Amino acid sequence: MNPVQIKPNIYWVGGIDWHLRNFHGYITPRGTTYNAYLIVDEQITLIDTVKDYLADEMLERISSVCDPSDIDYLVVNHVEMDHSGSVGRVMDVAPEATIVTSAKGREGLEHHYDAARWDFELIDSGEELSLGERSLTFVYTPMVHWPDSMVSYVQQESLLFSNDAFGQHIAGHERFDDEVGWDLLHEEAGKYYANIVMPYGMQVLRALQALEGLKIDMIAPSHGVIWRTFIEDLLDVYPRWAGHETNPEALIVYDTMWDSTRQLSTALRRGLEESGVPVKVRSLQTSHVSEIMTDVLSARAVLIGTPTLNNGMLPTVGAFLTYLRGLRPQNRIGFAFGSYGWGGQGAQEVAGFIESIGWDMPVDLMNVRYRPEVEQLEEAEAAGRKLGEAVNASE
Ligand code: FEO
Repeated sequence: MNPVQIKPNIYWVGGIDWHLRNFHGYITPRGTTYNAYLIVDEQITLIDTVKDYLADEMLERISSVCDPSDIDYLVVNHVEMDHSGSVGRVMDVAPEATIVTSAKGREGLEHHYDAARWDFELIDSGEELSLGERSLTFVYTPMVHWPDSMVSYVQQESLLFSNDAFGQHIAGHERFDDEVGWDLLHEEAGKYYANIVMPYGMQVLRALQALEGLKIDMIAPSHGVIWRTFIEDLLDVYPRWAGHETNPEALIVYDTMWDSTRQLSTALRRGLEESGVPVKVRSLQTSHVSEIMTDVLSARAVLIGTPTLNNGMLPTVGAFLTYLRGLRPQNRIGFAFGSYGWGGQGAQEVAGFIESIGWDMPVDLMNVRYRPEVEQLEEAEAAGRKLGEAVNASE
């Protein structure tokens, strides 16, 4: 288990979770990493830890650099257990170490672990801690992704330990962005943003403002690869995501029982395409909600279709909307459509949902009884064209 030197005497010593496929509901087909970093200075400092089952892997990497019992400081940027899960193991081998964290960080650690026996040094946002030749400056980034979250900055190395911010769920032997490539990282960083960080756009913008003016030539997040080449690209897309900016594209998400709702989705797609709007189509039977959220991140219009089952929408559609409500994408154009036999409440519920989250609905819902006739498919196509015009007009 080799460490990887990322700057002089600063090492990646994290753990690779090759087999993780579900991160509390977020599908992670590429696995993930939990990144811990070791700074060898007068005060030997470990930045964050790993999930509990990867503690041995992390300690083995640390042992290749120094005796883990020599660790002086353990910085806890964030208490969520993918990063604090091995704090206890580190403190067992380095009982003289001091945990450096915020007051909220200490409170969180006390809620999760037997922390009374540990020494703490509580720091404020903006405070600097000398490690010897280098120092760490801490910046609180509340809700990116928990109330306790903060980042740590090494001014002498222009290095930001950004914790959850700028992460991606990718397991691999690559440690740096240029070893993977922007296209894949853009997709995975976007998926991560959409599924983890999206509800906290305002806080992300505040955090980015707090970091403005810092010279940064490397961003070392707590998941995925380290940014050193595509920092400019990353710092270009993050404010766009945080500001709920979208592309002039449409996304159709639906489930179907007897094919009627699917037929409507095809007619809607045709209409959107006739307006020159690129469209993605996702069936909830084949796409996971966390993958669909990546599409929601960039889509200006989101069309949601359901049949009516037992006087309501299909449970798959309900699950998607519940997930979407929690992640709070804003500034979208919404549209509800569906089919029914007698009640018709499914698409009505979707329309009510779209209204409740404040999206624009420039076109009334389309709800078709039993199977769509040719005229109704033409109506759906016309609705797609109108929605396409709305997308184009919103540029
Ligand atoms: Fe990667 Fe919020 O923990």
